[in-house]
Amino acid sequence: MKASIALLPGDGIGPDVVTQAVSALDAVALRFGHTFEYRTALLGGCALDETGNSFPPETERTVLAADAVLLGAVGGPKWDDPKAVDRPERGLLALRKALGVFANIRPVKPHPIVRDATPLKPHLMEGVDLIVIRELLGGLYFGQPSERRVGQAGREAVDTMVYTEPEIVRILRVGFELARSRKKRLTSVDKANILSTSRLWRELATEVAADYPDVTVEHILVDAAAMYLIQRPASFDVIVTENMFGDILTDEASVLAGSMGMMPSASLGDLSEGGFRRGLYEPIHGSAPDIAGQNKANPIATIQSAALLLRYSLGLEAEARAIEDAVDEVLAAGARTADLAKPGEPVIGTDAMGERIADAIIRAR
Ligand code: IPM
Ligand code: MG
Repeated sequence: MKASIALLPGDGIGPDVVTQAVSALDAVALRFGHTFEYRTALLGGCALDETGNSFPPETERTVLAADAVLLGAVGGPKWDDPKAVDRPERGLLALRKALGVFANIRPVKPHPIVRDATPLKPHLMEGVDLIVIRELLGGLYFGQPSERRVGQAGREAVDTMVYTEPEIVRILRVGFELARSRKKRLTSVDKANILSTSRLWRELATEVAADYPDVTVEHILVDAAAMYLIQRPASFDVIVTENMFGDILTDEASVLAGSMGMMPSASLGDLSEGGFRRGLYEPIHGSAPDIAGQNKANPIATIQSAALLLRYSLGLEAEARAIEDAVDEVLAAGARTADLAKPGEPVIGTDAMGERIADAIIRAR
């Protein structure tokens, strides 16, 4: 197969980890006889520095022309001025919007080898295998107005939470379909005791559930969900929730995965008539400016995001597995980046971890 992949390394450790994900993709190409063509473009702080725009038109053209998009991370203290008109994070939101990727899929399946990297008691970690589906294009992230202004009491600010029925229904359907292909349990997370958007969400979840009688549905308030994720993580299968709740709950869920450095994500759009579905793949971690360029970051979240890219955007299941198996093998052999190592355990760098995974992909031939 021949495929074009847009690379957006971004800021901080983004370029460090994307380089290693490309090595893994190259290893897959070699082993399975595919050709991947890469186009690199600017996004975030680096784009602001070079063009004055966090999501330049050229980047938009590049991502829209590609079969799939692999992103590192954006942001850093350099661009943190709260008064700035453009910010790296705005670029990321504009990118998600331009691609129309409304379904953010964040799997949490703790690797047995790094289970003791989590602060949770081992018995709670038994059987944890859940997926959070986060709505990515609505809610507080995009609602208007969102602004600072001066009111009667002085400075004030407003953000708007708005959801339409089609936006809610399409994300719920992604959740139900996925639950159907797994353990058939769906948890819909909202704040229906307070928010109107959540009451609409719950009403629609109940309606859509009628089309999926084989799926067991529970509705949980987001504050309780935060607690249950730690108390009984193994009880969840598919969790579906709105944008901001999903943002917060997935950072919490990453604790189950041992490290943020282990959490990949896929953001998918609608299936087009031609059977094409746009996809954006990125680790859930940020740009970690404190360790950028120091060969310290864990590249596994990005390498596993590349595996999701192969699976969801290119339909290459065996190839995706090859990456995931290689990660398993290398971890089982004891390779640990700093975030995974126990005190006293030897630590390897970003490049060495990436090289070992790429080697394992090719050796499995
Ligand atoms: C994430 C990140 C982003 C988000 C930031 C960087 C804008 O936290 O992907 O979870 O809030 O969506
Ligand atoms: Mg987040």
